[in-house]
Amino acid sequence: MNRRLFLKSSAQTTLAISLLPILNSKALAEIYKVSAQNEIDLIASPNDFPLLNGKTTQLLSFEGHTIQGKIKLLPSNSFLGPTIEAHQGDRLKINFKNQLSEPSIVHWHGLHLPENQDGHPSYAVGPGQTYTYDFEIKNRAGLYWYHPHPHGRTGYQVYHGLAGLFVVRDSEEKSLNLPSGENEIFLVYQDRHFDEDNQLIYVQSGHDIMMGKMGDTLFINGSREKANVVKKETYRLRLLNGSNARSFRLKWNDGRKITIIGTDGGLLAEPIERDSVLFCPGERLDVFVDFSINNIGDEAALQSIPIVDNGRGQAFDLSVFKVQHEGTKIYSLPVRLSNLEKINPSEAVNPNNPKVFKLLPKQGIGWTIDGLEYQMNEVREKETVELNTTEVWEFDLTQAGMIHPMHIHGSQFQVIERVHGPFSKDLVLDEGWKDTLAVLPGDRVKIIKRFNDHPGLFLLHCHILEHEDHSMMRNFLVK
Ligand code: C2O
Ligand code: CU
Ligand code: CU
Repeated sequence: MNRRLFLKSSAQTTLAISLLPILNSKALAEIYKVSAQNEIDLIASPNDFPLLNGKTTQLLSFEGHTIQGKIKLLPSNSFLGPTIEAHQGDRLKINFKNQLSEPSIVHWHGLHLPENQDGHPSYAVGPGQTYTYDFEIKNRAGLYWYHPHPHGRTGYQVYHGLAGLFVVRDSEEKSLNLPSGENEIFLVYQDRHFDEDNQLIYVQSGHDIMMGKMGDTLFINGSREKANVVKKETYRLRLLNGSNARSFRLKWNDGRKITIIGTDGGLLAEPIERDSVLFCPGERLDVFVDFSINNIGDEAALQSIPIVDNGRGQAFDLSVFKVQHEGTKIYSLPVRLSNLEKINPSEAVNPNNPKVFKLLPKQGIGWTIDGLEYQMNEVREKETVELNTTEVWEFDLTQAGMIHPMHIHGSQFQVIERVHGPFSKDLVLDEGWKDTLAVLPGDRVKIIKRFNDHPGLFLLHCHILEHEDHSMMRNFLVK
């Protein structure tokens, strides 16, 4: 193999250069092969799982197989799909095999990808078909996730089990020496509702569509087990609210503050402490916690408390950490976490004239954006964006009210202003790079987003999946 060509084509140029003196060209070709060809199969199919006592529950699940390469597939030991762990700059080929009885397509929530890699519903493949993804990971380190995105069936398929985590690492994160290995715990929270036969109950009424489908049984990583045995050490908790519709309000039961080090798009500039924080469907939080201050035998519960402080509703545990062993791994919490670039509003083509999207209920349809129904290929003038520009958008929820976690495909965005309604501003965390944003009743929230690199048709929708399916979703076209 021609050495110059190799250097040009390899994503690992620096590694190759530093190894040059000691390796012959055959060894170099080996490195090239390993670094460039990561391939996995991701198969969606119906499966039964023992979720409750007694009869098994019929679900849909992702199963993963490494074909070749260095991408880690961590088994989930539950109906959740494997956790895909990759590094920024990695190139990844994923063969999505649809073994369901209906069309589907996979969306990589939070990743910045070209249109044909993003899982727009128009790319759905039918039963027995395969869709092959091949993309490079541009995102910074963060917790992303994947789930189906077929037209009108996203809620159903996710609710029945199709979802998984996608962890991206990078060198900036690595240099911080954050808790890792056993001290990094991934926690996916989802609620479900069952009939007497242990089978899932999904949407049954217009009410379920308007309010979103909520369940009375909480699953943590696909299991009902809330307990985690921990040591007197520090931990990094990587949280995903994978519920279809339920928002949580996180709080530690022992009075300690929640130390948040990252959100949807990775690490914050510096840690933020809060008494409580709202956590909506689709959002991720990166939480640092120190159990070295605890005594052996202590239990600390991460709870969800009522979102509205009106004396109604009850707190419940999401995860319970049982401190049972002495420990040695005390990672310090960095004062500075990352170089977080703040987008300057003057960079936008419309800094003082945001494109406003009104979140409205519409008779006979459900929740909508601007009172419109979703059409597979329809794009309005307002939804058209010029490639390589930055725009300011505003979500307006002043006319009707319930929480809508609004999600935008493509690159991560930033919140620049929240004019808030009756809910306290402290309920939400607007810092850092976001892809899913809690809009609360009475709010008008402005965001700024770059539309770089990828022309094409992308989505903007509420991440209450019943809203997304009926019909709180629109396309936007980058051209
Ligand atoms: Cu996680 Cu378009 O969705
Ligand atoms: Cu997404
Ligand atoms: Cu909604």
